[in-house]
Amino acid sequence: MTQSYEQLRTRLAQTPATWVVTGVAGFIGSNLLETLLKLNQRVVGLDNFATGHRRNLQDVQGVVTDSQWRHFRFVEGDIRNLDACRGACDGTDYVLHQAALGSVPRSLEDPLATNETNITGFLNMLVAARDAGVQRFVYAASSSTYGDHPALPKVEGQIGNPLSPYAVTKYVNELYANVFARCYGFKTIGLRYFNIFGRRQDPKGAYAAVVPKWFSSLLRNEPVYINGDGETSRDFCYIENAVQANLLAACADDAAADQVYNVAVGQRATLNELFRLIGEHVAAAYPDAPQAEPIYRDFRAGDVRHSLADIGKAQSLLGYQPAYTLPQGLVEAASWYIGREKEKAEAA
Ligand SMILES: NC(=O)c1ccc[n+]([C@@H]2O[C@H](COP(=O)([O-])OP(=O)(O)OC[C@H]3O[C@@H](n4cnc5c(N)ncnc54)[C@H](O)[C@@H]3O)[C@@H](O)[C@H]2O)c1
Repeated sequence: MTQSYEQLRTRLAQTPATWVVTGVAGFIGSNLLETLLKLNQRVVGLDNFATGHRRNLQDVQGVVTDSQWRHFRFVEGDIRNLDACRGACDGTDYVLHQAALGSVPRSLEDPLATNETNITGFLNMLVAARDAGVQRFVYAASSSTYGDHPALPKVEGQIGNPLSPYAVTKYVNELYANVFARCYGFKTIGLRYFNIFGRRQDPKGAYAAVVPKWFSSLLRNEPVYINGDGETSRDFCYIENAVQANLLAACADDAAADQVYNVAVGQRATLNELFRLIGEHVAAAYPDAPQAEPIYRDFRAGDVRHSLADIGKAQSLLGYQPAYTLPQGLVEAASWYIGREKEKAEAA
């Protein structure tokens, strides 16, 4: 029987458990940390700061109480090192495995590095979590696994050929998780994230995701580039929905385990629509700023044209109910990115 997210939060707050969050200094990991600490859970975080930041941990520290923060133990370590994984998993109840090298373009440029972290590192975490006897291993899978399959919306059972080394690694994660279920009876759940966005997502760097990058560019009067004609579409999903899916997956009945689930909203928006929405938020905060227009350039290798999730499976088996649509999530994200920019301007 599924439980609602509200019921689960109440139950967890009354009976704290110990969670491992890998990639805890990253975007999704730091948001998981924040929610878990606010629910009075104990959290062990593992990260090597490859793409994550200490400031994300400091940011979480700033929004939880001192006693909640004392329930967090940070291990600076690399998932490519089995001992580091064992050290994090020892004596814990649930693993939320987020650490990976994200980004399709990064994997095209350096497939070996992506493979080492996303496959060898993943396998290390599976082995460490299995040996530590954790109750459930929830991991970040990806919508990139749908590859070139033309069906829309995407349903979990129908996948195509991977379009990038990154997509291969995320699919291999699913295969390993499946084999660990068959061979060792180990309970895993894969969450195929669609485009997740929200506070603490890094706007900087060559591999930044589109939502933080565009907020940052518009707030600094820098050019905004759209790859292709802007009619490429995505199922943009606010971070709170992804956090909800992780907690529900960790605590779902065993009948829901050994499977993968789409984590999205079930609605899609084009890049042109996204640009307009983000532009409206920035214009509302800075009414005197000049109206920015995007610059269109070539389509990007490895990108799929359209992406839209069927979220029916997560709804029925996990009790997942996304609480934020794209416009609702953008209200929250805008307030965070614009608030940060104003703080920086005041401090300067
Ligand atoms: N953000 C999205 O839209 C999205 C979509 C699909 C899948 N995912 C997956 O979700 C997970 C989290 O992504 P994110 O957006 O938070 O990215 P992120 O880059 O912000 O976080 C990843 C974290 O993992 C850490 N890390 C990387 N390599 C490591 C290693 N070898 N050892 C220890 N830590 C390591 C990084 O330092 C970083 O803190 C990843 O597995 C990613 O592939 C994200």
